[in-house]
Amino acid sequence: MHVAESHPVAPNRIRKPSIGFLLHALLINLELQDFWREGVKNSQTMEITNVTEYQAIAKEKLPKMVYDYYASGAEDQWTLAENRNAFSRILFRPRILIDVSKIDVSTSVLGFKISMPIMIAPTAMQKMAHPEGEYATARAASAAGTIMTLSSWATSSVEEVASTGPGIRFFQLYVYKDRNVVAQLVRRAERAGFKAIALTVDTPRLGRREADIKNRFTLPPFLTLKNFEGLDLGKMDKADDSGLASYVAGQIDRSLSWKDVKWLQTITSLPILVKGVLTAEDTRLALENGAAGIIVSNHGARQLDYVPATIMALEEVVKAAQGRVPVFLDGGVRRGTDVFKALALGASGIFIGRPVVFSLAAEGEAGVRKVLQMLHDEFELTMALSGCRTLKEINRNHIVTEWDAPHALPAAARL
Ligand code: FNR
Repeated sequence: MHVAESHPVAPNRIRKPSIGFLLHALLINLELQDFWREGVKNSQTMEITNVTEYQAIAKEKLPKMVYDYYASGAEDQWTLAENRNAFSRILFRPRILIDVSKIDVSTSVLGFKISMPIMIAPTAMQKMAHPEGEYATARAASAAGTIMTLSSWATSSVEEVASTGPGIRFFQLYVYKDRNVVAQLVRRAERAGFKAIALTVDTPRLGRREADIKNRFTLPPFLTLKNFEGLDLGKMDKADDSGLASYVAGQIDRSLSWKDVKWLQTITSLPILVKGVLTAEDTRLALENGAAGIIVSNHGARQLDYVPATIMALEEVVKAAQGRVPVFLDGGVRRGTDVFKALALGASGIFIGRPVVFSLAAEGEAGVRKVLQMLHDEFELTMALSGCRTLKEINRNHIVTEWDAPHALPAAARL
């Protein structure tokens, strides 16, 4: 048998590195360390590039009780996740080769010209997020040329918010058992220059928010529900569960019904937006009872869990409204693409809730401004990339939803 001749293995000769080589390696090492250090520094002061990023910052900054109150939804929080997830099931059908060198995202709401169809939803107790609270939000909305809705349960009064300067503002109303309180408050909002009432109709009782129960949530004693200060209703007691749930049980009128929407029209000439509609049946009733507009809302998933995402309920409401009143949407809007999808399904505009309190907690007025600017820019970009130059050009054919049957494609798109 032929045995392969074995060659003697040459001993591994380790050559000494030259001084030059060592110096070079050292330099690279130093530069790498700088590069890494810079990287860590950058990640600490990292630029915010989208609205969602503010949530983690708010979580770090805020006391747990406050963060949980802002962030959480009702019970299993299924609807909370669904408000976001549903947007991701709607896809675009962009049109191309359309001159999009000029884009106009401005619009009108109830006759008021605003810079974009992106507005601020009422969120309660904003001074828990930042000392400037509702003032900061009002200034940011005004600077962005859009509408702020002030909550009944704000920690700044209607008069205080009005004193921050000019701006188009709506007032969100909770109807108290004591109708004198309601009548007074509506009159004050009118006098302070608020332009519409957003009547919240999904809260005869407070939804079961388990984090608030665990945390024994209550308004910190140094703050007041400012609109009710003089009426002895501005403080919230600590309770065995959620202090807010007890407050609502004590003060809010569970018997509220459509006749009260009529009653409201006898005490104010302001237009009434019914906030919290999710069905065609209630849309028709809202129209019959004199609503000037409808807000499709599930209260940021904080009331009844397992209602659909608002973006899923929108089209049903739009169809029932038959163009007689504008339909708006809130719930889970975090991207310009979300705004576009809502408009393609027939909304006249959208409102944002949590992004405002989270950005307020992170950076005060500058944070809210940035949120509005980012959504504006993303929305404008979405329009450009979809081939739309004005809001009127956005239509149902620019999107496809999972509930569209193949035959529902526009005639021009069928083979
Ligand atoms: C709210 N929301 C609310 N709605 C209302 O009519 N009156 C109120 O006082 C409040 N307060 C409030 C506080 C907080 C912390 C949140 C998160 C929400 C509901 C709000 O107006 C809006 O419907 C949702 O916030 C919209 O959903 P997103 O944008 O938060 O997902």
